[in-house]
Amino acid sequence: MAAIAGRACVTVVLLLCVLGGQALDLLMGTTTPGNSPSIPTVRCRCASYPNVTLCSWPEPPHHPPTHYVATYSERHSQSVTKHCHLIQPGSSSSDVISASSSSSDRLWHCHMPSLKLLTDYIINVTAVYSGSSSFHLSSFMLEDIVKPDPPVDVTVSPRDSKRLLVQWSPPPTWAHLDIFPLKYQIKYQRESRGIPRSYNLGPIESNWVVLKLKPGAYLFQVCAKELLNLGECSDWSSPVKITIPRTK
Ligand SMILES: *[C@@H]1O[C@H](CO)[C@@H](O)[C@H](O)[C@H]1NC(C)=O
Ligand SMILES: *[C@@H]1O[C@H](CO)[C@@H](O)[C@H](O)[C@H]1NC(C)=O
Repeated sequence: MAAIAGRACVTVVLLLCVLGGQALDLLMGTTTPGNSPSIPTVRCRCASYPNVTLCSWPEPPHHPPTHYVATYSERHSQSVTKHCHLIQPGSSSSDVISASSSSSDRLWHCHMPSLKLLTDYIINVTAVYSGSSSFHLSSFMLEDIVKPDPPVDVTVSPRDSKRLLVQWSPPPTWAHLDIFPLKYQIKYQRESRGIPRSYNLGPIESNWVVLKLKPGAYLFQVCAKELLNLGECSDWSSPVKITIPRTK
């Protein structure tokens, strides 16, 4: 790392670790002490193991760089670097950007099509400004950054007078369900005398569950996780509301 810093007369800004299924930030810096251009904050995610990996970072609103250079390499052979396929903010043409990445930030994405399994990678995102640049190096292993999109088509319907049937479909962006099955967690909330209480169920492997619940108003959400626990559960699906009436 000293060698890296020396070569580019770099101001090293920080070294920080984000543990627990996230890409690991290794090194960030700029080539201009004083007038510091903003350093991209890079987040990586695999929304369809093993083939759809995106690293994303927000475009700074006030002083956007002139361009970005994003390269990646295997950690143990860093001399062999590949260029990411860069996707500009707001470009709708790409089908690799998964549904849940639609935040309000204007995000750049870099798509890495075929990464090796169980291999450490280093990605270098460099923002180039007129006269300066700043970079962000992070390291990740595909297995740690798996996070599916949320399940879709969540429905809740009465099964009979006392029971509810909750059903959903797997995220359509998860392309290899036959090889890499998913499991699901269900969260439901019930408001009882004005106080919401939350309950969790699962993980379960089926796409449905039947629940016997007290009368009341409920909100249901489902998340999807890779069956063998790679990475983390998806974001929660949007809530579905149902009321179980009191029986006379
Ligand atoms: C992932 O992509 C590579 C290259 O595009 C392809 O050869 C491979 O079959 C894909 N893997 C799966 C599981 O689809
Ligand atoms: C990151 O990439 C930029 C642009 O390709 C390059 O100039 C720089 O040396 C790289 N930084 C490191 C630490 O590899």
